[in-house]
Amino acid sequence: MTNNADSRGIKRVGVAGAGLMGNGIAQVSAMAGYETVVLEAREPFLQRGMAAVEKRLDRAVDKGKLDSADRDGALGRLSGTLSAADLGGCDIVIEAITENLDAKKTLYADIEKSLLPDAILASNTSSLSITELAASTSRPERFVGLHFFNPVPVMALVEVVRSGATSDSAADAAFSFAVSLGKKPVSCRDNTGFIVNRLLVPYMLDAIRAYEEGIGSITDIDLALKLGCGYPMGPFTLGDFVGLDTLYHVTEIMFDEYREKRYASPPLLRRLFLAGRHGRKTGIGFYDYRGEKPVVSDFVKR
Ligand code: CAA
Repeated sequence: MTNNADSRGIKRVGVAGAGLMGNGIAQVSAMAGYETVVLEAREPFLQRGMAAVEKRLDRAVDKGKLDSADRDGALGRLSGTLSAADLGGCDIVIEAITENLDAKKTLYADIEKSLLPDAILASNTSSLSITELAASTSRPERFVGLHFFNPVPVMALVEVVRSGATSDSAADAAFSFAVSLGKKPVSCRDNTGFIVNRLLVPYMLDAIRAYEEGIGSITDIDLALKLGCGYPMGPFTLGDFVGLDTLYHVTEIMFDEYREKRYASPPLLRRLFLAGRHGRKTGIGFYDYRGEKPVVSDFVKR
């Protein structure tokens, strides 16, 4: 088998999922000069994702940070589809759909019906096993994790994750591809949480436990980590930004893998998840965002 993507270079990129992560990845891919096709399951989700990219690029032009010709070029390279067959000519497809194992496996089977045999299939999963995802495809040697960070256009890091089955050529091509997007990739082994979440998630959960133990208020813990450590956001603001549903699901998967208390969801996080208080995207999480300025939500005060 020839390595198509490796030998003739990656030219056409597929992104499955037009949500927050998917539309960010599509944006940086199109901006880097790749023909980029975005696959979504439903038209309104596709429209919303494409509109988000256009809005961000328009804002960059308005701020004088991007030439309008570059914006037009990027938008011209970006197209959307509802049919997995349209990813057939892609040299790499990055899946960025919901963190659901079965949904991802079903999608891969659909994409692989028309995908070039030696194209790379990558997942942006933050917590599922790359080994397990790879094993569900017909190309485990060409399957990698490419984990981007939110907000994708701003955050420089990409974790390039290989399973025991990933070939050197696929891992190298994925690494070079991340560099070509203007990102700083790091390589890591397939362990749940990779590098960042392995360290970040216990920190965020400990902040919730510190609050539950009455060590400090939500705002004081946030301020302490911001000013004391120079973090751009405190742990509660970050949790609301990432999404408390996402954080909760990640903790469940990490606890299942490691069976250690430091990965277990504290009761308050579980209650916020169950109550649909998922942070910024729902208007309420640790903070209530519905007013002019975020204030600590009544839900966590009670
Ligand atoms: N999407 C795109 N661009 C955004 C953005 C967004 N959601 N939010 C801010 N930006 C851009 C702004 O447009 C601005 O760009 P310019 O400098 O070109 O004008 C730049 O980011 C800085 O924005 P602001 O001045 O408004 O705000 P800030 O300086 O506070 O930065 C931030 C905002 C970049 C989000 C910063 O607060 C930050 O780095 N926060 C931490 C983010 C983080 O830790 N992300 C990782 C989460 S964990 C994860 O993603 C992994 C997982 O698996 C769960």
